[in-house]
Amino acid sequence: MHLRLENISKHFNGTEVLRQVCLADEIGKLAIVGPSGSGKTTLLRIIGGLLQPSEGHVFVDGSRVDYSENKLPHYRAGLGYVFQQNGLFHHLSARKNIALPLQVVHGVSEEESLERAQLLLERFGLVHEGDKLPAQLSGGQQQRAALARAIAASPKLVLLDEPTSALDPEYTNEVLDVINDLGKTGIRFIIVTHEMGFARHACDNLLFLYGGELLEYGTSSALFENPRTLQLQRFLSKLLEWRV
Ligand SMILES: Nc1ncnc2c1ncn2[C@@H]1O[C@H](COP(=O)(O)OP(=O)(O)OP(=O)(O)O)[C@@H](O)[C@H]1O
Ligand SMILES: [Mg+2]
Repeated sequence: MHLRLENISKHFNGTEVLRQVCLADEIGKLAIVGPSGSGKTTLLRIIGGLLQPSEGHVFVDGSRVDYSENKLPHYRAGLGYVFQQNGLFHHLSARKNIALPLQVVHGVSEEESLERAQLLLERFGLVHEGDKLPAQLSGGQQQRAALARAIAASPKLVLLDEPTSALDPEYTNEVLDVINDLGKTGIRFIIVTHEMGFARHACDNLLFLYGGELLEYGTSSALFENPRTLQLQRFLSKLLEWRV
């Protein structure tokens, strides 16, 4: 999938939180990293059609994303989303969380959507949790169900915003493993993460945001091994400070 960001800026009440972000590349497994408040979530939401840029345009496979309300549902239906937490419908079982959007958004029959949900529950290690409500699942199980839901309709791109940040370390690894496996099966994703090991080893490209600006973009190995800007050098060394 080809993504082009053309001079994306975003202001909130006069405060600029993204400034002239430009990018043009094939997206496979991309990590967006940067300090808190640098604009990562804002950029991901703009790419996902959940937020309109103040200036600039987004192009996916050559066509410009139209942010008018009547066009967005179609664009969003082609994407999968996983958020930090509480992304599931709390009144629906894990199974129905997966099956219902297939019916409502994608027009899949009830029978087929339940069959597909069952296969996904099996694939994500949730066979015994299908009829539980989100509150009855562990954090890791909730995020695996959210991932299952996100890929159920074979989206062209999955957007993940810190999918593990609310989890204990044990569940973090479990969910990162699942995302890594998805990447290996060819599912394209953009992940906002503070898990630097994952950004380095499971993602092919890295985008570094700092103060609303795209300061570096390139292969994960190049950015980790040879950060060009002082900001990325500092960001990486700060992260390594507490590593065991
Ligand atoms: N809806 C909003 N209204 C006003 N300001 C906002 C809004 N959303 C984000 N901001 C501001 O925009 C800036 C960037 O926020 P954003 O959530 O994109 O950062 P982030 O890089 O995802 O940070 P974190 O790592 O803490 O999640 C912040 O200063 C934030 O306060
Ligand atoms: Mg964020």
